[in-house]
Order: sequence, then structure tokens, then C-alpha cells
Amino acid sequence: MKPYVICHMLGSVDGRIKQDIWGFKDHHKYFEEPASKIKADAWLVGRKTMQEFSSKKTFPANKGRINIPKEDFVAEQRSKTFAIVIDPTGKCYWDSNMVSTEQVIEVLTEKVTGSYLQHLRSKNVSYIFGGKEELDLKLVLKKLNKLFGIKRLRIDGGGHVNGSFLKAGLIDEFSLVLAPVADGTIGAPSVFEVEEGYGKRRATHFKLKSVKKIYGDFLWIRYLVFKGKAQL
Ligand SMILES: NC(=O)c1ccc[n+]([C@@H]2O[C@H](COP(=O)([O-])OP(=O)(O)OC[C@H]3O[C@@H](n4cnc5c(N)ncnc54)[C@H](OP(=O)(O)O)[C@@H]3O)[C@@H](O)[C@H]2O)c1
Repeated sequence: MKPYVICHMLGSVDGRIKQDIWGFKDHHKYFEEPASKIKADAWLVGRKTMQEFSSKKTFPANKGRINIPKEDFVAEQRSKTFAIVIDPTGKCYWDSNMVSTEQVIEVLTEKVTGSYLQHLRSKNVSYIFGGKEELDLKLVLKKLNKLFGIKRLRIDGGGHVNGSFLKAGLIDEFSLVLAPVADGTIGAPSVFEVEEGYGKRRATHFKLKSVKKIYGDFLWIRYLVFKGKAQL
């Protein structure tokens, strides 16, 4: 079974997601408070976003080959909620297997080294394989449901990860906290980063579920992903 997937983001009116020049004192709350109101068993982010939460230490590379089978590893569960990272080649390092109250799950490809798997096992971090060289995101969602019982998953960015799930048609709902700012930085990460240039792909359409004015001039907009043919 595929979990129900809700993508949640804080974006400027021009779709930028990096808040470096927005000038908000407590920008985390504009993302976190609405996010906490979305019922979910887990949140999932891309490797770049997770490195804001994972260990800042550099781990020494192990000398020699370590042979650990490239098979899913489910650590003893201490938590019913999870923090998941899409980390295809194993770049996030961990001091513990928790981010706040959530237990970490690494989503890997078989490109990872044995010494990285040894690191994850030494910290009791669960990991699953989503493909040999490339990730099959549908398979990843199925495994998250089967191995960890995840029924509702919140995808929290960044743009690359959101774009991958959007392209694969795996997002059911989109929750956008629209900040009343225009960023304008050319090349800055945006809400959905799918591919460069215009090809055969068609844009994804949404159906409005609700809209609420919050924190003065912010809007919290919730959309259902339109799965049929859009009637405009
Ligand atoms: N405003 C908001 O609500 C919000 C929320 C979250 C993040 N952010 C911001 O967004 C920025 C980061 O966004 P980002 O788009 O640059 O990065 P990201 O999505 O956090 O991470 C991208 C990385 O994740 C891995 N990845 C993602 N999808 C993959 C796929 N389908 N297959 C293989 N690998 C995949 C790749 O890792 P490798 O490079 O290791 O292969 C890729 O480079 C940060 O500045 C962060 O603060 C903002």
C-alpha cells in the first residue's frame, strides 16, 4: 500500500524557498506550526535539507573494504514517528538515530559503501534501498508502509525532492504557506524543481481544498492534486 502523501512548503510569492533575505525573525514557526497540524506518521526531506539536522562532525573514512549486504535494515523501534532522508550515496552522518522525537530512516541506492552502512548500523539508524543506481520512489513508499507502518507521509522539501515525487505522480496533496515576500533571486531553490527547459511534460494541476489567512498577511493554502484531465 502507498502512504497518502502531503507535500508541505513555505514559499515566497515567486515560489522561492530559501529564506536567507526574507528578514523574518522566527521563520521556522511559519513552516513548523502549520506542519504540526497536518496528521502524518513521518516527514521526508532531501539530503541537502537533512544536512541542516544531521551531524556536523566529519567521520573518518574506514580503511579497507567492509562487506555488509545491501539489504534493508530496520532498527529497533523506539518511536512511532519517523524522519526520512533521500540520501542516494550516503552523505548524512548521525550522532544518534533521532531528529527531535522522530526516528531516522535513510533511503539509499546500492551506490553506498559498506563503511557507510557500518556507520548507520553503529548508530542504529534504519535504512532501505530504493534502487541499484536510481531511486524508484514508488517502491520507496511501498517499503516505508510495509516495514514501518507509515500510512500518511509529509514531504517537507527541498525543491529537488518535491519535484521528484511530483514527477512520479506520487503527491496527493500540497500544503503551501505563502509568505508575503517577493524574493527574486535567480537560480534560488523553488518549491518544485523537476527538470530544466520545456519538454513534453505537462504542469500538475491542483484543486483548492482550503485557504486561511494566518500570521497577518500569510496564506495557508491546501490543494488536492488533480489526477484527472484538468477542465479550465
Ligand atoms: N521553505 C521551505 O519550506 C523549505 C523546506 C525545506 C527545505 N528548504 C530549503 O531548500 C534548500 C534545499 O533544497 P534543494 O532542492 O536544493 O535540495 P533537497 O531536495 O533538500 O536535496 C536534494 C538532494 O537530495 C537527493 N535527492 C532528492 N531527490 C532525489 C531523487 N529522486 N533521486 C536521487 N536523489 C535525490 C540528492 O542528493 P545527492 O546530491 O546526495 O545525490 C539531491 O541533491 C535548502 O536551502 C533548504 O533550507 C526550504
